[in-house]
Amino acid sequence: MSKGTFYITTPIYYPSDKLHIGHAYTTVAADAIARFKKLTGYDVYFLTGSDEHGQKIERTAKEKGKTPQEYVDKIVAGFKHLWAELNVDYNDFIRTTEERHKKVVKTFFQQLYEQGDIYKSSYKGWYCTPCETFFTEYQLEEGKCPDCGREVELLEEESYFFRMSKYADRWLKFIEENPDFIQPDTRRNEMVSFVKQGLEDLCVSRTTFDWGIRVPFDPKHVVYVWVDALTNYISALGYGSDNDQLYQKYWPANVHLVGKDIMRFHTIIWPIMLMALNLPLPKKVVGHGWLLLEGGKMSKSKGNVVDPLVLIDKYGADAVRYYLLRELPFGSDGYYSEEALAKRINNDLANDYGNLLSRTASMLVKYQQGVLQKPQPQGELDEELINLALETPKVVEDYMNKLQISAAAEAIGKLVARANKYLEETAPWSLAKDEAQAERLNTVLYNVIEVMRFATVMLTPFMPNIPEKVWPQMGIEDKPELHSWESLRWGQIPAGTVVQRGEVLFPRIDLSKL
Ligand code: MSP
Repeated sequence: MSKGTFYITTPIYYPSDKLHIGHAYTTVAADAIARFKKLTGYDVYFLTGSDEHGQKIERTAKEKGKTPQEYVDKIVAGFKHLWAELNVDYNDFIRTTEERHKKVVKTFFQQLYEQGDIYKSSYKGWYCTPCETFFTEYQLEEGKCPDCGREVELLEEESYFFRMSKYADRWLKFIEENPDFIQPDTRRNEMVSFVKQGLEDLCVSRTTFDWGIRVPFDPKHVVYVWVDALTNYISALGYGSDNDQLYQKYWPANVHLVGKDIMRFHTIIWPIMLMALNLPLPKKVVGHGWLLLEGGKMSKSKGNVVDPLVLIDKYGADAVRYYLLRELPFGSDGYYSEEALAKRINNDLANDYGNLLSRTASMLVKYQQGVLQKPQPQGELDEELINLALETPKVVEDYMNKLQISAAAEAIGKLVARANKYLEETAPWSLAKDEAQAERLNTVLYNVIEVMRFATVMLTPFMPNIPEKVWPQMGIEDKPELHSWESLRWGQIPAGTVVQRGEVLFPRIDLSKL
């Protein structure tokens, strides 16, 4: 029985270029949460996609001698390839150039116009083309774009405006009544003070480029990218069409997972658009930190972007996923380096997790022909290990529900480390030398294998490829009932199970060769 629905989204990425490891972080994090919710009994819908309109795409395509559509088609194929390589298991991929999406954006625009929430005026401001954002004079930093540091141009144009200011009080009241809507708390405080400073109406159309969705009642204008982009979260569910079962079932979203840079759009503009249209608001917007390089941000112009495909090729998708999920603490920035990635693989995956299985399987094969027998009544050391194993799924569930993914991974790591220590403490290699200790030896090895099962079930959302390698070595590949979250009760592996030695799960990386 399903525990209910769970709808999670990633931002839709600009196909202005290939994606880098920072983009991969957002999507892998959403995938891990989606997989975790599925594992714990939810009916999950996971959406990602691409945000394909705008001046920047139009210009880039032109530079490459392609039509915008040809250009985005190629880049988006690359996105899908990357997600497949990273084992990202989304339910749908929405492209803003699809008819199903354009229709909803047009209806929204028309509706807001008809009810007087969109009006025509003129707009003057400093425009940064790469960021597709207008800035006021005082927002500029040394006369340049405060986000990317590049040149801005002064533009004045006839534009349509959305009456955001009208909804400021309603928004503030909503946040007061729903303090968890914006996570983490520090971001909520930032957003609240931004709105309290006075919310201006939002310019929602452009006439300076063509590559966009036409304003239905004034086709000289195209819809401003953010209004277009944000609508994806419901256009993908069939909102407003005859086929809107997904919308009925999954909206409002449980979580919009986004990077800190686009919190304002998701926590202010999007909810206000929905309020104006009398539609339910998403339950939560969670802003994560950025993956930085020692020298600062990753950017094409600096030539320091890290290509996830290269890393997957070298270290495998599971290891890259684990590193990303483990490395960035909730809401904060983290630094990427290949050395840190290699160290994570060596310490957490090779020395701790992989080694726990390989050393235990070796001993089982050597001392007991691999056959597990019923464990005997437990001593103090055993109790401690078992209690930690039983506690960990609850701790992990709690962290994952709070989207504290790295803390969840850390908790699983603690259990694995405890089991390795337990092997040192119980020293099965010494027990094996004494016939009289045969039962004790079996109990120790059984306990460690059972911990390995707990850890593997819990790690599956992080590393979806491990079960197919681990379950055969543990002799339980044909027992799906032992792979479920509900099976995390102690002592489920039956006596008679035959453990085998198999391939090394995570080979150690020679740091000196990096
Ligand atoms: N198209 C908009 C989103 C529209 S959502 C309705 C956009 N696209 S983006 O491609 O520029 O960025 C997508 C996501 O990638 C953002 O959440 C952004 O924070 C994230 N990241 C980009 N670089 C990143 C890092 N270096 N580290 C972590 N996340 C980063 O914004």
